[in-house]
Formats: sequence, structure tokens, C-alpha cells
Amino acid sequence: MGQKNRRQPQLMENVEIVGAGSEGMAVAKPDQKVVFVPFAAPGDVVDMQVIRKKKNYFEGKILQFHKLSDQRTTPECSHFGLCGGCKWQHLEYKFQLQYKQQQVKDNFDRIGKFDYPPILPILQSELKYFYRNKLEFTFSGRKWLTDGALSGTHQPEDLKGLGFHLPGMFDRILDIEKCYLQTDLSNHIRLAIKEFTIEKNYSYYDARKQDGLLRNLLVRNTSDGQTMVIVIALYNDERLQNELLPFIAASFPEITSLMYVINGKKNDQITDLSIQLFAGKPYLTETMASPIANEPLLQFRIGPVSFYQTNAVQAEILYKTAFDFANFKGNEFVYDLYTGTGTIANYIARSVKKVLGIEYIEEAIADAVTNSKLNGIQNTEFLAGDMAVVLNDELIRQFGKPDVIITDPPRAGMHPKVIENLIRIKAPRIIYISCNPATQARDIALLAPIYDVKAVQPVDMFPQTHHVENVALLELK
Ligand SMILES: C[S@@+](CC[C@H](N)C(=O)[O-])C[C@H]1O[C@@H](n2cnc3c(N)ncnc32)[C@H](O)[C@@H]1O
Repeated sequence: MGQKNRRQPQLMENVEIVGAGSEGMAVAKPDQKVVFVPFAAPGDVVDMQVIRKKKNYFEGKILQFHKLSDQRTTPECSHFGLCGGCKWQHLEYKFQLQYKQQQVKDNFDRIGKFDYPPILPILQSELKYFYRNKLEFTFSGRKWLTDGALSGTHQPEDLKGLGFHLPGMFDRILDIEKCYLQTDLSNHIRLAIKEFTIEKNYSYYDARKQDGLLRNLLVRNTSDGQTMVIVIALYNDERLQNELLPFIAASFPEITSLMYVINGKKNDQITDLSIQLFAGKPYLTETMASPIANEPLLQFRIGPVSFYQTNAVQAEILYKTAFDFANFKGNEFVYDLYTGTGTIANYIARSVKKVLGIEYIEEAIADAVTNSKLNGIQNTEFLAGDMAVVLNDELIRQFGKPDVIITDPPRAGMHPKVIENLIRIKAPRIIYISCNPATQARDIALLAPIYDVKAVQPVDMFPQTHHVENVALLELK
């Protein structure tokens, strides 16, 4: 009986979806169980099948709807439901914002357990679609076949795709017709390259066999339309330089930087490889308004592998929030931890005495120095190193104690050693910018014995997804 039950899929009928939870999943709580359900909306009533059972929660798949939530809207993208990219397109934007705000509160309450003032209303994104300035597509000789295309025989060219990895599948690619995240030029470039290379019989990469010429396509752009295209190939084939790249350059005069990379490694990382410029400039230049009125626009040089916030319009809102929280008087020494290409350091430099930016990618530090020069900024200094190693007493002795620390770590948050050092440094103010409220709450809880949380401001950088950026102002008790 037990065995039979195990084999039979567990069905749950007439279940109401009650929340929007972690990783973009919706949540149902039938019979005190927590069930995560993708592509559902709070207010939906569904029948579902339990597809995974974990100790503390189940995962469900919707079989049929009895009621559709009032919070729903029509997703723009035809790939919604398969592509892992924008899982909240079916939720009206005002509800997306509400759940992001709630996500910050839930993490602060459940993980943080420290006191904090009412969270300020989330700052919404001006652009709801087409807001990303960087997308990486993958070529595959084994694209994912949707139900309609599964039957029948296929020629090898029918199996070629250029798009995004399906969630959890390293070797299967969802062929993308139109992505709503980056400007339409990006779609046109990708489709033209796919059509040309299929017609000319270029081989596409097979991640299992590790063969096939074309691997990845990276498209980056700036707010004013500069566009960088990087073709990544497994080996150097003369057709790249003699045929494909000339075709791309001739078809899209809008491209301001055209590059290629030969990546013969197993992984897709290109930061450690030599990037060849085929045509145009070796970088893009993004601009951002200075936080000081009447100052010239700030300029940021973005090389092919440099980090830049992917929603440039919202980046300015995020930085302005941090700037306003810092309330600089002009005489402060500021540490900008996890500085990347020094964007925040350069953004605030004219309002403070000095900024020290720290980051572990050496190329990013080189870009940060260039960005200071480009903007005529002389009061910044940048240091390359792992934060857990370089932020120590020796550094404080060498550079001096900061009046303000801005910290913007990756999703994993700060290493415990970094927090230990922050506790030793005791800067009067810390501004903690985070793309993961869970690790932010964990870290602030460790700082809470000596810091009060004075303000919390979520910012929406990624509409149509569950991701939320959050800025917290901490003051020494
Ligand atoms: C969220 S980004 C912030 C970048 C920058 N503040 C900005 O707004 O453009 C986090 C940065 O931390 C850097 N990073 C990650 N782990 C690090 C570590 N252990 N030590 C130093 N930097 C690190 C990454 O390379 C990345 O540039």
C-alpha cells in the first residue's frame, strides 16, 4: 500500500494560492503544508500535482485552474512559462512591487529579527520591459522542442537554437524569438545571426560533446544606443573573421563595438580570455547624472567584461538613494566596499573628501581608475583584493578609519570576517546595498548589537522578476 502510494502522483484539488514566495514561485498552504508553485498568482484556485517533496515544503505543478486571480495580467512574452527569465510577467506590476516590498519585510522579520523603522515604499522602475543593458545568449545544436514540434523527424538545422538555458538544464536551450528585456535591436541582431549561420551551415555548440563552433553571443548597450556585440566560438575558424563578423558589421551599422573570443574551455567564462576587437571601439561609455546639481554628467567606461548595473536607469535611483542616506557634509572619508568598476565611488567622490574603493577583480579596479580619470576625479583610490582578506587592521592603519562605509556585496552577502572587521572599525554610518534581502538581513543581524537600522528603501531594478534591491542605512549606537 505504502509503495503504491509512493508511485501515485499526489494530487491537490481546489487549492488557493496565497502568496508570492522565494525564487519567483507562488505559495499555497493546503493542510498546513507549504507548496511552491511556479507561474501561479495569489488568488488563483487550482488543482495541482505534487512533483517534489522536501522536508519542509513541496513543489507543485498546476493541472487546471478553477479561478484566475484578479492580480493577473497578460504576459508580453510568448516564451513565458518555459523561459526562466521573467517569472512574474503574469502579475500586474503594482502587485509585483507589493510582493517585493513584502519580501524585504519578511526577511528582516524572520531572519533579521532586529528593530527597524517602517520600510519606505519601493521605488518603481520607469521601464517595465526592455530595461536590461546586457544579455548573454547561448547557441545550441539541441534546442528544446516545444510540445507542438516534438512529433515528426527533424533535420539538424531544425534543432539549432540561440537563446537562454532552460532552468536547471546546462545543455538545453530555449530558442528565443523575441526577448522583452533588451531593446529590439538586440532581438534583430540575434535573429539575423541565427538565420545567417543556419543558412551557411555553421555548427552550434553541443555542451555534452563539447564540439560545435558557435558558443555564445553577448549583447550590451548603453542608454544612448551604443551597442557592443561579442561572438564567442569554441575554436578559431577563418569564417569568423572572413564571413560572420563582416556580415554582422555590414548588417548592423548601429554596433559600436564588435568583438570575438575563442573559448576552448569547458566553462562559459570569458573574463580570463583574450577578447579580440573586430570593429569599432573596445568599450562602451554610459553616462549618469551627478547627484550634485549643475555638475557635468558622469561617464563610465564599460569594457567587454566590466560589471555595470544591468538596469542603468534604476542604477541612478539606487545610487541616489545611497547618496541621500549618507547625507555627506563634504569632509568624509568613505570606503566603497565591493566597488566593481568604481561606479559608486566616482558617483559620490565630488561630495566627500576621499573614497577608497575595494574589489577583487583586478580588471574592474583598472576600469575604476580609468573612470575616475575620465571624470577628472582625483580623490579616489582603488585596491584589488578579497574583502575577507584585505579589510583588516593593517588597511585601517594605512588608509585611516572611514566616516562612512558603503557596502554592495554579491548575492551571498558579506563574509563573516568582513562583518567582524566592520564591527571593529565602527564607522559612524554604514549604507548596505543588497540584491538579496535574505543575506542582507543575516548580515545586519550580526551588526545590530552596535548599529541601529535608521532607514530601509527597496528599489525595483528588475521588473517582471522577483528580484529586489534594498538599501539600508545603519548608524552606530
Ligand atoms: C553587486 S556588485 C556591486 C558593484 C558596484 N558596487 C556597482 O554598483 O557597480 C558586487 C561586486 O563585488 C565583487 N566581489 C564579489 N566577491 C568579492 C570579494 N570576496 N571581495 C571583493 N570583491 C568581491 C564583485 O566582483 C562585484 O563587482
